[in-house]
Amino acid sequence: MNLSPIKKELVDQKVKELRIPDIGNASIRELVAVVNMVEEVSGVKYIRMEMGVPGLPPAQVGTEAEIEALKKGVASIYPMVDGIKPLKEEASLFVKNFMDVEVNPKGCIPTVGSMQGTYASLMCAGNTNKEKDTTLFIDPGFPVQKQQMLVLNQKLESFDVLNFRGEKLREKLESNLSKGNINSIIYSNPNNPTWICFTEEELAIIGELANKYDVIVMEDLAYFAMDFRKNLAQPGMPPYQPTVAKYTDNYILFISSSKIFSYAGQRCGMMVISDKLYNKEYPYLQERFKSATFGSTITLRILYSFSSGTCHSAQWALTAMLKAANEGRFNFIKDVKEYGEKAKVMKQLFLQNGFNIVYDKDLDEPIADGFYFTISYPGMTGSQLVGNLLYFGISAIALSNTGSEEEGIRACVSFVKREQFPDLEERLNLFNKQFGPN
Ligand SMILES: Cc1ncc(COP(=O)(O)O)c(C=O)c1O
Repeated sequence: MNLSPIKKELVDQKVKELRIPDIGNASIRELVAVVNMVEEVSGVKYIRMEMGVPGLPPAQVGTEAEIEALKKGVASIYPMVDGIKPLKEEASLFVKNFMDVEVNPKGCIPTVGSMQGTYASLMCAGNTNKEKDTTLFIDPGFPVQKQQMLVLNQKLESFDVLNFRGEKLREKLESNLSKGNINSIIYSNPNNPTWICFTEEELAIIGELANKYDVIVMEDLAYFAMDFRKNLAQPGMPPYQPTVAKYTDNYILFISSSKIFSYAGQRCGMMVISDKLYNKEYPYLQERFKSATFGSTITLRILYSFSSGTCHSAQWALTAMLKAANEGRFNFIKDVKEYGEKAKVMKQLFLQNGFNIVYDKDLDEPIADGFYFTISYPGMTGSQLVGNLLYFGISAIALSNTGSEEEGIRACVSFVKREQFPDLEERLNLFNKQFGPN
């Protein structure tokens, strides 16, 4: 008995047409292409959980400031390669207000999305020391950063953090760092894809070992303040967004506007380089890029070569959003909280229908409801689950794409509309009837 609402042959045919060898291991963009084609032919609307698109309108204060800037004519003027002064100042204030961390505006640099920031930083860190040629990824992680390493032709090592939470993280990191080949550590917090949030204890371990082994920590805060268990959006007041910057001065923070301000389309994020790292001299950077310090290499060599700065009008948008948040006029978490509320309902629908949450805890605390969650189905690999769910009108990526060692999939809640919940429930019910124990 086949209960799937979409003909198996139709999905299989589209996968074949797109020459995807194994749908379970397809990239996000490949899945998007398959689902678009199947939706068109079948007329069935998918529950789309594969891509992390914001799904909310952009922050109005940003749009208005950007329109204003364009009207004033900024489009004809090259912005400074390391960013316009008001943005640098607001960014430095933002980091002080919401993280309780002091950093000179000089180190606050806009980039073409956080993506450009990580690409530039991975390149720079990879050339700081001839002996240290490898970046350590604390996985699961954002697959595109590994693609950046591929494009850069730089080396990486990784491990799945699931079994190394809390104090166990120390031993695991020591075993990697003590080999002497690691120049940087990268992770996202809250984590894409698992929504793990590192505890203060874990961040302290990362910072302490970064100091001990002189390693740069790249903290990707694409989901800044989105651990909805705490109210992290009050300027100048605890609790603050937890950060490794409290425990080391060898860091780069990446703050994206894509999710917190729903401003993904304008591709304007920022990186925040600690004062010490910004001014640090590396003889190998001098040899490789003819520039002595980390900060000058990033700005005057790398970012200048990549794109000669970041979109001028979008920088004014980001300035306005940060300023409004700094002045307490714009609670940027209020709107995005909707993601957490949707996640709560969706998780429940999966759990009722035989699924399990894969990464379910931050030590002994249940994981927060947020932008992503991870699920598995008994007896199915992550790859089989991706394939089977496609026949039931549900799309998501396999955890194997993210460096996870667990079998399961990543569910992204942002693109799923509340009106689709009844469809999701019905499809999961059919799925469980088809594959479940009875
Ligand atoms: C962990 C992580 N880092 C970076 C990004 C990309 O950020 P941006 O749009 O600012 O380039 C994303 C987007 O999904 C992400 O999940």
